[in-house]
Amino acid sequence: AAGSAIGLGNIWRFPYLTGENGGSAFIIIYLFCIIIVGFSVMIAEFAVGRRTSLAAVGAYKSQSRNWTFAGVLGVISGFFIMGFYPVVGGWSLAYIFKSITGLLAVPEATGEIFGAFIGAPVEPLIWTVIYMLLNVAIVAKGIAGGIEKASKVLMPTLFVLLIIVILKGISLPGSSAGLRYLFKPDWSQVTGGTVLTALGQSFFTLSLGMGCMLTYGSYLRKDENIPGNALTVVVMDTLVAIMAGLAIFPALFAFGMQPEAGPGLVFIVVPALFSHMGNVGPIISILFFAALAVAALTSSISLLEVVVAYLIDEKKMDRRFATYISSAVITVMCVLSSLSMGKMSGVKLFGVGFFDFFDILTDKIFLAIGGMLITIFVGWFM
Ligand code: PFF
Repeated sequence: AAGSAIGLGNIWRFPYLTGENGGSAFIIIYLFCIIIVGFSVMIAEFAVGRRTSLAAVGAYKSQSRNWTFAGVLGVISGFFIMGFYPVVGGWSLAYIFKSITGLLAVPEATGEIFGAFIGAPVEPLIWTVIYMLLNVAIVAKGIAGGIEKASKVLMPTLFVLLIIVILKGISLPGSSAGLRYLFKPDWSQVTGGTVLTALGQSFFTLSLGMGCMLTYGSYLRKDENIPGNALTVVVMDTLVAIMAGLAIFPALFAFGMQPEAGPGLVFIVVPALFSHMGNVGPIISILFFAALAVAALTSSISLLEVVVAYLIDEKKMDRRFATYISSAVITVMCVLSSLSMGKMSGVKLFGVGFFDFFDILTDKIFLAIGGMLITIFVGWFM
């Protein structure tokens, strides 16, 4: 469950949302949402999963046919999140290799390199497809030992690397402005939109509101402590998010960069920092992006699994076929999302590009509705 929760949401999304929403005040609202809303919804999901021993749709359906739609909504959310998540997973993979092919040569150029990379018509697509193939290889076999072993090594690696990056960042002259940005709230910028973004991010980062934690709850033994498990996941996830903030903002201010840089933030600031590390820079960079890719993978397989489990349980498909067919459709969505950063930037759905469309639709709307439904279900029905 921690592998599912800790992912791009913590290291890629949380810092850039913090930057776009004015820093500390956003973080305080976010923490509030995590503690008050996220923690409770996670307990609810674990409880339903454990009681029914079934994946999302089956769990709802087993209690009442009228509630099946809530499970299906979760499957749709997972499907749409997979419409953009693998694109960023692909960026992480690409950056492992870029670490030794010129990315770190000029610290001031990391922004341009990122912009040129994601806007290119072919290269990011290749990485997205490679990333998807990794997901398919794992999920087609059933969520299995390999990824668990890899994440048991690479997740602590990510943790240690974050600490190294934090220490390096706060040692730079001018970094204290970043700490002030993270810890001294400026409430003047807070709007209703800030609160909605923080709420959406708390669902996204904890993998809530779409039946993922519900499914993981179905693997819990009857004597496991549900609030205790939920607390562990919530604390670990929040710790990694705050660490990612500490890794990025002090360095960002030291380099005189802009906090509002958007989705590129981690891919621009962190390499700039590595390029100040001399000979060890490329090695740390490779490890950092490899660990990030694994963190992403342990999250995206849980997303894909929700879709695949639905096709197996409800549509009676065989696991391999269900994985291939859902991944094929997902890959098409990802291609559109990736191209919306460049060649297809003019194509809009409801006023935004494909990438933003899938992102906004899921985390600001679907996950929150899913979270509300599970709460009503547990509190008033079950
Ligand atoms: N929690 C993951 C992250 O922070 O990267 C993303 C995610 C995974 C969201 C699984 C939802 C989910 F069901």
